[in-house]
Amino acid sequence: MSHLYQTLATDIVKQIENGHYRPGDKLPGIRAISRQRNVSIATTQSAFRVLEDDGWVDVRPRSGFYVRARQTVSPIVAAAQSDPKPSNVTGQDMALSLIKAANKHHILQLGAAVPDLSFLPVQPISQATSQAQKRFGDRALSYEMPPGALELRRQIARRMGEAGCAVSSEEIVITSGCQEALTIALKAVTKAGDIVAIESPTFYGLLQVIESLGLEALEIPVDPQTGMSLDALKLALERWPIKACVVVANCSNPLGYTMPDESKLALTSLLTEHNVPLIEDDVYGDLSFDKHRPALCRSLAPQADIIYCSSFSKTLSPGLRVGWIAAGKHLARVEYLKYVSNIASATLPQLTVAHFLESGRYDRYLRQARGQYARAVSRMTDAVLRYFPEGTRVSQPRGGFVIWVELPCAINTFELAQLALGQGISIAPGPIFSAKQKFKNAMRLSCACKWDEKVEKGLAWLGARIEHMQLSK
Ligand SMILES: Cc1ncc(COP(=O)(O)O)c(C=O)c1O
Repeated sequence: MSHLYQTLATDIVKQIENGHYRPGDKLPGIRAISRQRNVSIATTQSAFRVLEDDGWVDVRPRSGFYVRARQTVSPIVAAAQSDPKPSNVTGQDMALSLIKAANKHHILQLGAAVPDLSFLPVQPISQATSQAQKRFGDRALSYEMPPGALELRRQIARRMGEAGCAVSSEEIVITSGCQEALTIALKAVTKAGDIVAIESPTFYGLLQVIESLGLEALEIPVDPQTGMSLDALKLALERWPIKACVVVANCSNPLGYTMPDESKLALTSLLTEHNVPLIEDDVYGDLSFDKHRPALCRSLAPQADIIYCSSFSKTLSPGLRVGWIAAGKHLARVEYLKYVSNIASATLPQLTVAHFLESGRYDRYLRQARGQYARAVSRMTDAVLRYFPEGTRVSQPRGGFVIWVELPCAINTFELAQLALGQGISIAPGPIFSAKQKFKNAMRLSCACKWDEKVEKGLAWLGARIEHMQLSK
């Protein structure tokens, strides 16, 4: 027997499906609906909770409930390559030139995966900074030698424990962001010339690390919903002497998938069978839109050889540069590599984050941030579908704040990115997400920007330009 709140939720869904309420529309408030439908406030609240959980509406604090963009999007298609071969990383100079050119104040930042400050807890963090300075005094100005501030490592170990991954604070090494964590993790298990298996497409920062360490990348195709193709990885492990595998299993960048637990488990067993360490980059895990935080590969396979890397760059602030490694059996080497890399990470940011985490405000902030990012993603998706040519495919991320957009025609998005920069718009073109510059007709857009007329105009310009490039083919 269906409950009253379920009937009410179903009725509201029907109204959305019939177009009575469109994506972005504000729904009548809880009191108004309970009056109209002659049901209690509690029943209406339960109905809205169902709508929110099922992804039909978003809550905007102190504003109300808004219809989420229902993605009548054709989902993006998985790469077809099934027999990958290792290669040097090329084309990252072009990524760097674009990033440098785009890093100017007046540019509309849709390229870099850096949240606008309006998404970050700026005030609480600056408060925590002065409190940490007072609390820790001169210590805040001294070296905090590897493995890093104990207060912070304790908090990180506690949080990882709450996410189902029992690690000791002794095993954690603080780094300057997740990028340094990845660099150290790769240095710990490879040497120049070695082959590293990676997702394709992958985060271009990882490609830059691979290139700078003289490693070869073996791009493994991914399924846009479930992540790395384990069949392709198996084949690659049988054919090539792979020395490490790097995966962003939760809310990946750029596609936004979260690998199901069974795939994470299958991945770790496959790697264990071949004696290959997994480097798990979980920088977006806390920003999942799912009801529960997705599991870590490390929590599902605690005995496996996994180096876990993460940071607070996507949640608290990229400028704090606070990241970490849970190094497993590579602890001694990781600690040494951190030391020779830059002696120590800055002390005050470590103590600030420790202080902020101890205050218990992080979870409250995360709840709000996840909602804010989910709304930003649905608003951007909706606008892309409105402005870009018919047939454009958009990813449906399970968390984080980037979307991957595939154009319906063979347009080189690197050319598009250069033209767009001339118009004051930065996008991340598809080829920079591949060692071999694949994905020429794709781009990644960051949704965590301040939404205003400039964004609408920028997207409209991009859509018109793509149409134009398509027609002149
Ligand atoms: C998947 C992934 N890993 C690592 C990083 C680097 O993070 P950090 O800024 O903490 O160095 C990023 C930043 O964009 C990322 O997207």
